[in-house]
Amino acid sequence: MENKTNQPYSSPSSFEESSTDLYNDDIEIPTVDFSTLQTNKDDFIQKLGDSLVRFGFVILVNHGINVDLLEATEKKAKEFFESVPQQEKEKFLIPRQHTNKLVVGYVPRLIPNILQKFIIPLEGWKFHQNAFDFENPEFKESEFWPDTTYEACASVFREYYLSQKELATPLISCLLQYLKLDPQLFPKTSVNTLRFNYYFPLQPEEFLNNTCRMYPHADMGIINMMAAPSSSGLQVLNQEDMKWIRVNAPKNSLIFNIGRVLQRMTNDIFPAAIHRVIKPSPSQNAVRVTFPFNSNLKEDEILEVLPGLGEPKYQPLRVFEFFNELAKEAYGDNYASRK
Ligand SMILES: [Fe+2]
Repeated sequence: MENKTNQPYSSPSSFEESSTDLYNDDIEIPTVDFSTLQTNKDDFIQKLGDSLVRFGFVILVNHGINVDLLEATEKKAKEFFESVPQQEKEKFLIPRQHTNKLVVGYVPRLIPNILQKFIIPLEGWKFHQNAFDFENPEFKESEFWPDTTYEACASVFREYYLSQKELATPLISCLLQYLKLDPQLFPKTSVNTLRFNYYFPLQPEEFLNNTCRMYPHADMGIINMMAAPSSSGLQVLNQEDMKWIRVNAPKNSLIFNIGRVLQRMTNDIFPAAIHRVIKPSPSQNAVRVTFPFNSNLKEDEILEVLPGLGEPKYQPLRVFEFFNELAKEAYGDNYASRK
């Protein structure tokens, strides 16, 4: 393990896309071969951990998830957004008030976004893990799935969700081993979500104004993982020189990154890096679909720095209190009453 800890990033609002942005094209986010966890475990853990300490991101290849499943999920995700009538989508509207609870549901296009600063032509849909709990006798498909989508999309989305969940467990265990901690230390209880993002092609005027595909932000939760999108645009801020790195993840790879909860648990050793998605070039102005998996601690868990990682920089607090802090950071003190 490298003997350093990362500083928390400053406010993401200062990192909007600009012609004066600085890039470091000599650096690429490292790629690690997941299959070597079986054949050369120590080497895999070292490479995985080193990349995450330095960049907060890593790219995984040979992860064992079937290419057909990746392609089917992308295809069904497009179909999902394009086939469900707006009226039906709005029955699942995500709560508009900022809240310290884990919120799920439909995120409509052009929702007033962070600090009212960016225009984001994007629709989203966040599924709670319970949406995939088909075998539970209490499960009601109408609670989670718009009409017709249960039959059309749910089994593919579930298979993808389960593949991500299955992969997340050994990866989190490897991160703990990298830190020389008990691999079973956490998560004691986690809650997972699978979010789908449907990025519209930009309108001509949107190439000129403050539109972006995704504003600069650090992810929540413990870890995030998504299939490499078929179109580029993802950039990660390198905290060493504050220059942007263009992420060129190979087709069928997975992009894995650290969330704010894990940054805090690891006393800032693993950073939750600022990242964004910039506008496409006019020649690549097509629909873009992504489907990130997120693993988080449950809201009433205690969030504290893991033992053995030096003098804790942070006091223990409940996860929902931490979400409150993050919301205040993003939206100001009166976030809870903001419509
Ligand atoms: Fe993100």
